[in-house]
This record gives sequence, C-alpha cells and structure tokens, in this order.
Amino acid sequence: MSPVDVLDALRTVVEPESGYDIVRLKLIRDLVVDDAGVSFRVVLPDPTAPFASVVEERATAAIQARDASVRVRVSMDNEMIGLGDDISVQSDANANSVPSIRNIIAVASGKGGVGKSTMAVNLACALAAKGYDVGLMDADIYGPSIPTMFGVRDARPRVNENRKLVPIETHGIKLLSMGFLVEPEKAVIWRGPMVSNAIRQFFGDTNWGALDYLVMDLPPGTGDIQLTIVQTIGLTGAVVVSTPQEVALADARKAVAMFQEVDVPVLGLIENMAYFVPPDLPDRRYHIFGEGGAAELARSLKLPLLGEIPIEQPLREACDNGRPIVISEPESAVSRVFDALAAETARQVDLRNAGLDPTQRIEILYR
Ligand SMILES: Nc1ncnc2c1ncn2[C@@H]1O[C@H](COP(=O)(O)OP(=O)(O)OP(=O)(O)O)[C@@H](O)[C@H]1O
Ligand SMILES: [Mg+2]
Repeated sequence: MSPVDVLDALRTVVEPESGYDIVRLKLIRDLVVDDAGVSFRVVLPDPTAPFASVVEERATAAIQARDASVRVRVSMDNEMIGLGDDISVQSDANANSVPSIRNIIAVASGKGGVGKSTMAVNLACALAAKGYDVGLMDADIYGPSIPTMFGVRDARPRVNENRKLVPIETHGIKLLSMGFLVEPEKAVIWRGPMVSNAIRQFFGDTNWGALDYLVMDLPPGTGDIQLTIVQTIGLTGAVVVSTPQEVALADARKAVAMFQEVDVPVLGLIENMAYFVPPDLPDRRYHIFGEGGAAELARSLKLPLLGEIPIEQPLREACDNGRPIVISEPESAVSRVFDALAAETARQVDLRNAGLDPTQRIEILYR
C-alpha cells in the first residue's frame, strides 16, 4: 500500500461535525507506511470530540477494507485547535478557521448608512434561494441591525454539548449576530482589540455546519477593528457597498484600498440607492444621488460592478418588518436584481478561487 492509497481510503471517513472527510480537512498528520504497517495521527478540531473513537475505528476499517492484512496504528489527538492554530491555515477552500465553511464574503463600506446590512441580508437570502447553504454573521457590534431585519431580535443562540454556539436558523439561513451576545451600549466603550477579539471568537466558536457561503456584515469604516477582522478570518473576498454620492464613493475607495493592502481580494462593488423607479411610472428612472459613479469607480479600480440596487420603499419596509424583500416578494423587480447580484457574486467567488491561493490568515495578535 502506498501513502496515496491510504489517503484514498481515508477519504471515505467523515468528520461528523463538519460533514467533510478527514483528508479534505487535512486532519491526517505524520503518515508513515513501512514494513510495520500504516501509522498516522488524526487531529480533531474539537477538544471534547465524543465521536473521536468512531473516527478512529472507521479510519482503521477503511484502510483494512483495501488490504485486510495491513497493520494500522492510529493515534487520535484531541488537541484544542482554536483560532491561530495551524489547522485553520491548512483548511481546504480557504485559510479560514472553520473548515466547513467554503467561502466567507465580507460586506463592507467605508461610509456608514449606505445600506450595507440591507445588502448583506438580501444577498444572503438570494444565495439561499439558489439552493446554497448560507450563513450570515452580523459583525457590526456597535449597531447590529440584522436581528431586526430578520425579525429575531429577541432570539438567543444556545450552546451545544461541545460548547459551541448554535446559530439561529431563520428563512433557511444560519444567523449569528453580535447583537445576540453583547449589548451595543456596553460594546461602545470596548477598545478596538476587545471588539475584534470578540467577533473572531464568536465566529470561531460557532457550530456553523457545512456552509457554501458565509456572508459577514462588517461594522462601517476602515479602522483597526475592520483590519483585524479582515486579517484574522480567512476571507474569500469582500464586496464593498457605496451609494452614488461622491462622499460615499471616496470612502468606498478607502475600503477597497484597505482590503488590497492586506491581500484580501475585492470581489466587486455594489451600488446601492442607484436609482428610483416611481411605482406609478415604472418606465422612469430617477438617479437621485447621481448617476454612474460606482460604475466609474469600478472601472478605475478594475473591479466588477456586481449590481445596482434601486432605492425603494418596499425594500426598506420589508427590512424594517423583519422579512427581507427577497423572501417576502421573490417575484418583485428588486428581488430579481438581488438574484442577479447573488449570481454575479457567486461567479466572482468561483473566479477568485480558481485563480488565487486561499487568503492567508495572519496569526492572532493578542488574546
Ligand atoms: N435600496 C434601498 N432603498 C430604500 N431604503 C434603503 C435601501 N438601502 C438601505 N435602505 C435603508 O437605509 C437605512 C440604512 O441601511 P442599512 O442599515 O442597511 O445601512 P448600513 O450601511 O448597514 O448602516 P450602518 O453603517 O449603520 O451599519 C435603512 O433604514 C435601510 O432600510
Ligand atoms: Mg449596518
């Protein structure tokens, strides 16, 4: 038996928590195949892992199914693998610290109030409507608005037997908000490092399960907090939201520069409040905040413009009422715009994953 045969056999063994096989998760260490037989270690991400012995038995059985005479020695390491440990850097699609999440998309803006949370919520819903497994993390500790937009303000995530947070499931999306965990009034007096630490920790200590996309609503701005989150969670990429106004565009440019500085790919720009269509004059388009600004910025930065979202009352009302428009009125014109936005974002993620190595996380700076 060659090491390749052994790894092929081990690909049939699944790590129960994430649903991915133990080879894909790169949990196998120190594989040796020699005259004495096969030996290796399996490093499990969970410190308490009650299923460790099951994984051990299945790994042995999988190898012996190919060659019944081979001697197999497996040692299980229940080492505590927290953020900053090497398993996260080794994970598959991204260097993020939760290997069962294939892609993490941060939604950012330089300027506040441009509709970042509205975009994050409807993008997540539109991706879920396409059949993807989607999570949404509201990392805006100072102004968490996603619980309101989903109508789950009073929800509290429970903690499972492995001491992981269980996200709230709503509209088919797994949701975690800093608003569930920290009172914004308390958070405002936290120093930057405390905020970024808390966000990173809650992100890593959550039982997300297998997700195709995790959409992360970042706090507005380009300060230390954003920078730390961006650097320590292995983002697949970021989308930057702007309105057509000059002030917003200037801040969007800063946000793009921040991501590029730390080598996080920018998947593209979203222009929100791009135009207004009067309900009684559906053929008209008014460019209330200006026209073509984001498209021009995208051109000058050589980035895709992922979508142009109209300003409209039902979109705002749906968010205020806790039922995002993509869910409450899936056939509306604006929901179709979000559907196209989701398709384009997914396409840019695919392009990014095909063309670039996983984003490197930097090591934890402080605990
Ligand atoms: N396209 C739109 N049409 C109508 N209303 C919108 C649109 N986009 C956002 N809004 C409204 O504008 C307000 C601000 O939006 P939102 O909370 O999404 O912005 P934000 O960038 O997340 O803000 P913050 O920086 O405070 O986190 C909300 O009341 C929202 O409903
Ligand atoms: Mg917001």
